[in-house]
Amino acid sequence: MAQKRILSGMRPTGKLHLGNLHGALANWVGLQNSGGYDCFYFVADWHAFTSEYNSTDAIRDNTVNMVIDWLAAGLDPGKSTLFVQSAIKEHSELFLLLSMITPLAWLERNPTYKEMKAELANKDLSTFGFLGYPVLQAADIIMYKAYGVPVGVDQLPHVELTREIARRFNFLYQEIFPVPEPLLTSVPKLLGIDGRKMSKSYENSIYISDRGENLQQKVSSMFTDPQRMRKSDAGNPEICNVFTFHKLYSAPQTTLEINENCRKAAIGCTDCKKMLATRIAGAMAPIHERMDHYLNNMEEIRNIIEEGNKKATEIARQTMEEVRAAVKI
Ligand code: TRP
Ligand code: SF4
Repeated sequence: MAQKRILSGMRPTGKLHLGNLHGALANWVGLQNSGGYDCFYFVADWHAFTSEYNSTDAIRDNTVNMVIDWLAAGLDPGKSTLFVQSAIKEHSELFLLLSMITPLAWLERNPTYKEMKAELANKDLSTFGFLGYPVLQAADIIMYKAYGVPVGVDQLPHVELTREIARRFNFLYQEIFPVPEPLLTSVPKLLGIDGRKMSKSYENSIYISDRGENLQQKVSSMFTDPQRMRKSDAGNPEICNVFTFHKLYSAPQTTLEINENCRKAAIGCTDCKKMLATRIAGAMAPIHERMDHYLNNMEEIRNIIEEGNKKATEIARQTMEEVRAAVKI
């Protein structure tokens, strides 16, 4: 059976956290292991430049570390192609050609553009590159003639724009590109330890790499049911982030007991969190083991990336030959 190709990417803006692990990454690993897809996953380091252009020191290290996080989480270079965007120069050529046919109005009305600009108000994002972010993303996707793009809801406008750009190219020149589908999956909503959205910029994240004392400390400082002031108060697990984590990490029976005991004040938050910390540490152990393996074998990482880049390049070259013929250049 011919496998359908899927492609997705992440910007290398820093260490990945448990929100990423149970969101995008779990999804990627699941698609990889389902056997039904030819998976391409890449580090979107040029995309990182759109917001980090004035402090690019960390991008290179973040790129390598992100691949280590991916492998630790279960991506398998024997099954998936892992590569780095900036190594495949064809992306920039396709980006340039697509930028010629993308109406400005499509970019200016992109909701993600407006949101990100507002969210990152401390940065000057009034640049050509930042406005063109989705055009580069479209190039990433259609370069590999991907059938599907596994993403979170926040990326839907970008995939929608990609679809429009692909259709426009096909209409203006030649039917080269399949119009890609977004592949959405529901993900558990994990909040940071302070109860806000888990985000690197809030410094409230539990990272995939956190372990030992550090992990315990973070779990012990997690916000719980805000109404539960004393141990003798009954709690409400429904509105407790610790409980959301238990549902992911603890056995169903344990979760059931915590639910009941919390409601009748038969378990305290400190104990509840201690149990959670133990569960998370247990679940993360094999991930940390793989992480240590790769950290001690950086040569292997370099080879994996090189191999992935090679595979990606082959396809990108072929696509660009077709593209050049179609646009007659
Ligand atoms: N914009 C995506 C994000 O911020 C990253 C990305 C770049 C991407 N190119 C892509 C995702 C192509 C999917 C497909 O998460
Ligand atoms: Fe949350 Fe557990 Fe405390 Fe209940 S006992 S409020 S579930 S931390």
